[in-house]
Amino acid sequence: ASTLGAAAAQSGRYFGTAIAASRLGDSTYATIAGREFNMITAENEMKPDATEPQRGQFNFSSGDQIYNWATQRGMKVRGHTLAWHSQQPSWWGGISGSTLRQAMIDHINGVMAHYKGKLAYWDVVNEAFNEDGSRRQSNLQATGNDWIEVAFRTARNADPSVKLCYNDYNIENWSYGKTQGVYNMIRDFKSRGVPIDCVGLQTHFTGGSSLPSNFQTTLANFASLGVDVALTEVDVTNASTSQYAGLTQACINVPRCVGITVWGVRDSDSWRSSESPLLFDGSGNKKAAYTSVLNAL
Ligand code: XIL
Repeated sequence: ASTLGAAAAQSGRYFGTAIAASRLGDSTYATIAGREFNMITAENEMKPDATEPQRGQFNFSSGDQIYNWATQRGMKVRGHTLAWHSQQPSWWGGISGSTLRQAMIDHINGVMAHYKGKLAYWDVVNEAFNEDGSRRQSNLQATGNDWIEVAFRTARNADPSVKLCYNDYNIENWSYGKTQGVYNMIRDFKSRGVPIDCVGLQTHFTGGSSLPSNFQTTLANFASLGVDVALTEVDVTNASTSQYAGLTQACINVPRCVGITVWGVRDSDSWRSSESPLLFDGSGNKKAAYTSVLNAL
């Protein structure tokens, strides 16, 4: 196959990217994105601050722009994200306790109603753990430890057709506290029937030339709990070819690893642009890492 999406499809997987609505008018950007990928995540446009800027007043204009662009090209869309400590609407900062809990529930219901039946995945909850595996202290956590399962139960009722994911970073290394914390939560949810279908490993890799050697083990162990796994926001410092090949191979080796999404198109589009972490350079040329991924798919 000659594109990332087509190569991933050979094994029933997808290859995605994050898209910024503001860049869709850039023809180089849109040409690469339209050619290479078959799953799209909105980089910021479906986050709570974007979709519910005032209480009960939803705004889907930018999110829909990305959704329409993707689906007109036959691509699927991953929703990102419904409940997170970051990029919250400012009015969430003025409420707490049961009021904030209800606002979160209403937010999930409002956003999921708009996209009901249209998305492949939703990142229901994003980044709820500390590095040591304890729960991250946030205004949502302060509403009660059960806020995550409430979010997932609300989401299942709002749209039974979409796969519901927990998404986080630094959960790639199996022998790491945060990985264990997330693993234990998923195991607990599965044992008690809390609805959850998938775990997203953001896979923002930094230093070093090698992957966490147990990355594939982590993917397999999450999958053994009965959830799909996906690499949801991949970028790698200086786009190390060995790390890109290794993370791709790890996904391919785990049957329930359903796909890989890179967090942007060109280096110049990246939130980490100074680290040149993506598969296309600022001019839109394929980098060596592109070939290493394509060959590993
Ligand atoms: C980042 C976006 O790329 C930036 O444009 C924005 O300013 C901040 O958020 N984890 C996530 C993503 O789940 O939503 C973040 O995206 C990167 C880290």
